[in-house]
Amino acid sequence: MKIPPVKGTRDFYPPDMARRNWIIDGWKRVSVRNGFEEYDGPIFEYLKMFQIKSGDEIVEQLFSLEDRGGRELALRPEITPTLARMVNQQISSLPKPIKWFSVPRLFRAERPQKGRLREFFQWNIDIIGVDDVLADAEVILTTIDYLREIGLTPKDIKVKISSRKLLAVFLRSIGIAENKLESLYTLLDKKAKLPEDTFEKLLTEQVTNKETVTKILNFMNCNSIPDIPKLITKENKEFYAYKNVMLVFDYLETMGVKDYCEFDAGIVRGLAYYTGVVFEVHAVEGELRAICGGGRYDNLLRDFGGPPISATGMGMGDCVLEILLKEKGLLGKSLPKKELDYFVAFAKGYGGGTVYKVAAELRSRGFSAVFSYKTSAGLSKLLKEASALNAKKCVIVGQEYLDNKQLVIKDMATGKQELVNYDSLFTQLKPESK
Ligand code: HAM
Repeated sequence: MKIPPVKGTRDFYPPDMARRNWIIDGWKRVSVRNGFEEYDGPIFEYLKMFQIKSGDEIVEQLFSLEDRGGRELALRPEITPTLARMVNQQISSLPKPIKWFSVPRLFRAERPQKGRLREFFQWNIDIIGVDDVLADAEVILTTIDYLREIGLTPKDIKVKISSRKLLAVFLRSIGIAENKLESLYTLLDKKAKLPEDTFEKLLTEQVTNKETVTKILNFMNCNSIPDIPKLITKENKEFYAYKNVMLVFDYLETMGVKDYCEFDAGIVRGLAYYTGVVFEVHAVEGELRAICGGGRYDNLLRDFGGPPISATGMGMGDCVLEILLKEKGLLGKSLPKKELDYFVAFAKGYGGGTVYKVAAELRSRGFSAVFSYKTSAGLSKLLKEASALNAKKCVIVGQEYLDNKQLVIKDMATGKQELVNYDSLFTQLKPESK
């Protein structure tokens, strides 16, 4: 009986694994050079942890389970609640600001579609303890630092930036009640994902007034910061929300990445905990979902029983990114080549145990070394096998070994061969000769 893989999951055959590692290694390298330290948490947590503040969409997509003691658990759909829990646990001893990154494997029971699966990897970077939009700008800079390194230009991707605070100021200014804001955010986040008339119908149901619907649509369609004050009709003391957005753009200009960024009041974000600057990265062309998303969440640690500490961060999944890189021809290009230090071969009729002994000795000294299982193959076939494995050198155990206990070392790039005494081979090898 053949059992298929579970819907929405992926098998990683070696070439897929090489691509996955290439993406993840890049995330880690860029995190470290931007000053982030790695952390991780458990793959499952108490169910209620994700019900507190992640929002309805995530809760509907939870893979939940009950342990033998009847405790309700869930596979993690995101790592931000775990981060909040972990930081709260050691809040008084952790040096601040906290700049941490993680690459968790996550699970969401979504309807599998292009770029959305039920199991995926997500790069997270978060800065905790900085109540300044400079931290939001640094999260965006780090995100761009990675995307730029892998070859994506401002022609390929855009970081669309807005602010939940700005949206709240606007919604209050047009008379939306405080207790309606959260459910409205959830709907507004769906604007780009729903057909226009469906979105307008749902919006009309929530705000009931046609004029208000038009005002909201005008705001959401605004991609020029200077136009925002014209849309916020009522005089409002909270105008700093507007200034903060301008400040983020100033920082991004100073950091030399403004070309990648644009203001887009339509960015709301689906998760319930965001409180300030929010952003998403989108491919300029095509209909792909967001490559990543993040923003400020100043109340989450407090909502998890900790002190009121500001936080900001982002999450980038591997699925959309991989599709985009494949489309742009950027994925295969920069994958590291297979490398092998030594292939140990025998000239037909000789070798035997010596081949395995040499390979084992080389491995024990930190060199990669492989031998063939084709014990009756001729030397030319074995050399082909060595080339296919991209071996740098080939050690040949043959007549010379029987005559004088010598081995032939063939340089696979130049074809040059030299004779080396078996006993001195290993004493000559130094790690730098790799
Ligand atoms: P999110 O918007 O839910 O945010 O997810 C961020 C990114 O994760 C998405 O833009 C996408 O690349 C990827 N992603 C989400 N769901 C899936 C899926 N089903 N399949 C494949 N990729 C997916 C968060 O998770 C926040 N916790 C990010 C954050 C960290 N905000 C602050 N710090």
